Amino acid sequence: MKIAIASDHAGVALKTEICNMLLDLGHEVKDFGTYSAEARVDYPDMAFLTAESVAAHKYDRGVLICGTGIGMMLAANKVQGIRAALCHDQFTALLSRRHNDSNIIVLGARVTGMDVAKEMVKAWLVEPFEGGRHSIRLQKITSYEQKPNTMLNADAKGHITVDENQATSHAKVWAGGDIVLGAATVILAMGEGRKAAAAINEYLAK
Ligand code: RB5
Repeated sequence: MKIAIASDHAGVALKTEICNMLLDLGHEVKDFGTYSAEARVDYPDMAFLTAESVAAHKYDRGVLICGTGIGMMLAANKVQGIRAALCHDQFTALLSRRHNDSNIIVLGARVTGMDVAKEMVKAWLVEPFEGGRHSIRLQKITSYEQKPNTMLNADAKGHITVDENQATSHAKVWAGGDIVLGAATVILAMGEGRKAAAAINEYLAK
């Protein structure tokens, strides 16, 4: 397989180990850096390089590593076509393949031990996607990321309404009353608006 890999400064040691393992297993590896554990870098820079190369099918899969894995996961998943899964053990790594068809595995070098991480990557690379009902769910994500936000519509006065055709059943649960959010009035059309208003007010009060 052709594999793209990258880390920030917190993940350099683990990245080196994983690169060596992948080469030993016969994979072709592209290391997008960083190369020094001492010089601080910003994880989005490496995440975007790696994720774009996988999304463009220049590489079959990607491996991203930072301290917790959270930053790399957030950044990589902004790239269209990327399903980056932050995994902590064999179970999450395998399920991210079977159910989510993850194309990037993300690891936290300060969270997961070296040997556990290596075993996870090894197992993740060969685990197939199950397809079936999982394909339908992933297709919903793919369709969603290809269009602008459309569940809520705002008019010139700042009134926001839920588009019933676009809203998912989950969003519809939250539809129904008048909610005042600063200068904008949110008018939701169906369902349990009072509950939504209470939750939003509680959130704003925090
Ligand atoms: C770097 O200190 C750390 O913030 C980074 O490696 C990562 O954990 C971010 O999510």
